[in-house]
Amino acid sequence: MKGIILAGGLGTRLRPLTLVTNKHLLPVYDRPMIYYPIQCLVNAGIEEVLVVTGGEHAGDFLKLLKNGKHLGVRHLEYAYQEGEGGIADALKLAEEFADGGKVCVVLGDNIIEGSIRKAAADFYTQKSGAKIILKEVPDPQRFGVAAFDGDGPRARITRIIEKPKDPPSTMAVTGIYFYDADAFRVCKDLKPSGRGELEITDVNNYYLNRGDLTHETLEGWWTDAGTFESLLRAARLVADGGANHLDLGLARPPLFSAAR
Ligand code: DAU
Repeated sequence: MKGIILAGGLGTRLRPLTLVTNKHLLPVYDRPMIYYPIQCLVNAGIEEVLVVTGGEHAGDFLKLLKNGKHLGVRHLEYAYQEGEGGIADALKLAEEFADGGKVCVVLGDNIIEGSIRKAAADFYTQKSGAKIILKEVPDPQRFGVAAFDGDGPRARITRIIEKPKDPPSTMAVTGIYFYDADAFRVCKDLKPSGRGELEITDVNNYYLNRGDLTHETLEGWWTDAGTFESLLRAARLVADGGANHLDLGLARPPLFSAAR
């Protein structure tokens, strides 16, 4: 299974910082933001990675990441997204890289304390479809949010709603997704949302409607880092320790290098 990091977009919520560099190259405590999703994939045993980026500072990724070897990435590729057409628009650029296989997609501004190694291994054996990772949050209005058909661990997701004014639950959909190769066809068929973007939530709802979406709940903290508040929170969480970001450079053995 290959990994895709979506690090496009213009980062307008972090201006003026993002006038001179890409959002994902900004520091989160002691290292650039993009190191965290890379480490998330490497720790999950995924060692072939595509970084999708865009904007005026895309060239800076090459200066920082080079061929990725120093970060535990065996094979690193780059793709360039024109404009800011949304997460699912950025994902379209990964079709050739995926080469018909399953992928793990991580948003470039998502940082986790723990590991997705088990979720990745579970999805590897899932026959088809997609898997999302949920996390309880105090501010679900900011995210994609899952609605359930009941309470308790057996409750099933009935719908995912992007940034609901009146959230049906406090379970946010994190920016870590697993997809089979159908996702690329789904992305191509999407229509832009009210905010003019191709929404990853629409891709997830496609899989949900076809009865082929599994989910897990993430252990440990999770944050995005795309606003001043969340960027500061991310730095504090990392600085306070406990994050497996400290493993950097001590990559775990690959699980998914040879087969799909
Ligand atoms: O962080 C998790 C949330 O991410 C999910 O709960 C939401 O369902 C999902 O829509 C997304 O919401 P955001 O509004 O926070 O996404 P944002 O526009 O900040 O983009 C997140 C990352 O996705 C960004 O750091 C880079 C990548 N991206 C985004 C856009 C709009 C791209 O690569 N290209 C794009 O055009």
